[in-house]
Amino acid sequence: MALLDEYNRPLSSLRVSVTDRCNLRCGYCMPEEHYAWLPRRDLLSFEEVARLVEAFCALGVRKLRLTGGEPLLRRELENLISLFAAQGVLEDLALTTNGLLLEESAPRLFDAGLGRVTVSLDSLRRERFARLSKRDELDAVLRGIEVAREVGFCGTKIDTVVLRGVNDDELVDLLEYGKRVESEVRFIEYMDVGGATQWSADAVVSRNQMLALIERHYGAVEALAKTDTAPADRYRLPDGTLFGIIASTTAPFCGACDRSRLTADGTWYSCLYASSGLDLRAPLREGATGAELAATLSESWRRRKDRGAEERLALDDRGALLAADFLARDPRLEMHTRGG
Ligand code: GTP
Ligand code: 5AD
Ligand code: SF4
Repeated sequence: MALLDEYNRPLSSLRVSVTDRCNLRCGYCMPEEHYAWLPRRDLLSFEEVARLVEAFCALGVRKLRLTGGEPLLRRELENLISLFAAQGVLEDLALTTNGLLLEESAPRLFDAGLGRVTVSLDSLRRERFARLSKRDELDAVLRGIEVAREVGFCGTKIDTVVLRGVNDDELVDLLEYGKRVESEVRFIEYMDVGGATQWSADAVVSRNQMLALIERHYGAVEALAKTDTAPADRYRLPDGTLFGIIASTTAPFCGACDRSRLTADGTWYSCLYASSGLDLRAPLREGATGAELAATLSESWRRRKDRGAEERLALDDRGALLAADFLARDPRLEMHTRGG
């Protein structure tokens, strides 16, 4: 019997952040000058992550995504992937990356058994990319996407956060680029997550507005029926090209949310918006058995009631979730620690 939370949502997808460090500074995620970082001694070793993942899998997790910060900053990440491959339980093992280090690491990741990659890419214009991410590295990202294809990755996705007046004139260019590199593009509504201290409702381009921009160029697009709990709504252009829109801000998918997050220091969050998480590092280092860890997880999941994005949507006066000075108190409040 599947483990269900208070709203009958199963525990089936886990996002594992392997570092809170990042080599970009995208304004919708890391807009400040200074950050509180997780102490390095607190980071879980790969063996510790693998032990926790084993306990999650015992409770039904079959889909795992490695995230950061930027996960490719964690040295020898392929060794963690090999540990998962040896466990042999996961049906879907993916990585979310900004692509900067993909060119050099794609061959090793593929050989170790990584299933697919999603690359964040918000602009194809060099100067704009540099302004958005504060690093002039567009070419490295584009080479990374090419190399991922060359080494054999299929099903690569490109994730673009759409910001009003910043990159909302690039949807067609990005769709055309996605066609050339055989990758599905997903446009993401700007979310008021921890870390997005500059968020305002005015800056959000809604799903309907994105569709209107796309249809103005291509003509009517076809909406596809939803087949799983993934957050993206999928569409087909008249020429058959598929793309997605993730409307987490205007149409949250909390009702079907089967995902939770593990930070690099072993804190488990049952919602992107949750104010606190469960420390799994302490029981792990105190010698808890796999069965004891699984019991702790299942007791907590059964009580889960989170609907963070829906609660935010219900607010009349919605601004940034947390102010920068508040974020400085706990490094785990940030999106770059919880995993994008
Ligand atoms: P696939 O496994 O490829 O289907 O991935 P996915 O569709 O789950 O997307 P991914 O995990 O790459 O997440 C894409 C984007 O969706 C993120 O960058 C966020 O903007 C948003 N998102 C991801 N997880 C959550 C979540 O737990 N809550 C909300 N509200 N939005 C999320
Ligand atoms: N709104 C939407 N998506 C965000 N991400 C980070 N911050 C935000 C935000 N404020 C997601 C993006 C990015 C990934 C690393 O994290 O999808 O591609
Ligand atoms: Fe899941 Fe929370 Fe995101 Fe809603 S806001 S989809 S409950 S993580």
